Amino acid sequence: ASPAAETAALLAWYDRHRRALPWRATGRAGPDPYAVWLSEVMLQQTTVAAVKGFYARFLALWPDVAALAAAPREAVLKEWAGLGYYARARNLHDCAQAVVERHGGRFPSTEAALRALPGIGDYTAAAVAAIAFGEVATVVDGNVERVMTRLRAVETPVPAARPEIKRLTAALVPPGRPGDFAQATMDLGATICTPRSPACALCPLAGSCAAHAAGTELRYPRKLPK
Ligand code: ADE
Repeated sequence: ASPAAETAALLAWYDRHRRALPWRATGRAGPDPYAVWLSEVMLQQTTVAAVKGFYARFLALWPDVAALAAAPREAVLKEWAGLGYYARARNLHDCAQAVVERHGGRFPSTEAALRALPGIGDYTAAAVAAIAFGEVATVVDGNVERVMTRLRAVETPVPAARPEIKRLTAALVPPGRPGDFAQATMDLGATICTPRSPACALCPLAGSCAAHAAGTELRYPRKLPK
């Protein structure tokens, strides 16, 4: 299948099977960048199931970025307890304060400007730009890495393969729906293209998947022996 056909198949699958996650609820004005950013920071290294309760409590306590910025640091750390990786909570609070101080309380809308904020790395900058602002940014997390290395049978081990994976992913991002594409790829990796028992019979990309054709899904992503 052509890349355009692969993208179309993935988006059609997402339209049918998208998970109803709280941060995907879109108001009339579209996704709230603050809510998207908060969810993406929480979802790093933490599963969707574990994040849901924390996400709801944070939004109830601090409904916008100015409220979070004004919160005492100890209160933020206390609410974060249980999510792990405390550095993320400190970065979260630093970032909220920078959005208020540098941008008047509105998240900047480009990947580059987001990347310049404290605690926002490549992944979060791309995810917020694509999902909240519709920028054609390429989002790569562990799920996307697995999907893409299988789809193209990438033989280079991770992490060395990351630039190649980014390039292969970028070639599929549809200009009209970059955020949906990112979330579709992440959902596919989380629910179908799983590490140990991929459900290829249900996969919208199985027909063009190089690993599936060879029966070698479980070899990818390749890793260097430790
Ligand atoms: N993992 C991290 N961000 C995600 C998102 N927006 N949707 C699904 N899985 C994710």
